[in-house]
Amino acid sequence: EQPQILTGKTLTITAGPTREPLDPVRFISNHSSGKMGYALAQAALELGAKVNLISGPVTIKAPAGANLINIESAEQLLNESLTYAAHSDAFIGCAAVADYRAANVATQKMKKQGDELTLTLVKNPDVVAAVASLEQSRPYTVGFAAETQNVESYAKGKLKNKNLDMICANDVSKSGLGFNSDHNALTLYWHNQSLELPATSKTEIAHQVIEQLAKHL
Ligand code: C5P
Repeated sequence: EQPQILTGKTLTITAGPTREPLDPVRFISNHSSGKMGYALAQAALELGAKVNLISGPVTIKAPAGANLINIESAEQLLNESLTYAAHSDAFIGCAAVADYRAANVATQKMKKQGDELTLTLVKNPDVVAAVASLEQSRPYTVGFAAETQNVESYAKGKLKNKNLDMICANDVSKSGLGFNSDHNALTLYWHNQSLELPATSKTEIAHQVIEQLAKHL
């Protein structure tokens, strides 16, 4: 039994990919497994928090005791995130949100045409930045940054530009870590400090992230 350092606190965590529909049978998505977000939810529950887990479609099971909210698109993720964030002490944006969606979603299945097809995409809302800019009931807001190069400068840029309180950066070019893996290594950045969390299981690193977060609540 772990020290219940998050008793009385509510965390909202986003996880998994989004699906951006093109027509009734097709979508744009990514390979996010949801493992990191689900591990964070599990760790927060074990430390006594109430957890809202807003999740895109994944194949893993939600931790027992989490309030699971299923979403598909980034716009659905935004709506649910703003609803739950305003009643949360902390918000962790761990979802792999599609950066773009189709400008127009066809109401009927698109028919095969010529040799080329051009899709027009429009930018999706930035969910974690929208939460961080809440004027009332703004939770302590945490983002993730998956980078393949210049990890520190890109992560610090996102911390600042998205107005986050903390960002968890990982170098996804390192094989066996990050996307879809059971292991991860992170560097946590705040505006005035940083902390290296060396490679370990997502379960263990999730505990370390939540313990660091708890110090700020
Ligand atoms: O800008 P980038 O996608 O690298 O930032 C990653 C962080 O921003 C993650 O915390 C991710 O959940 C969040 N994000 C978001 N909405 C988007 C894109 C990213 O909340 N449309």
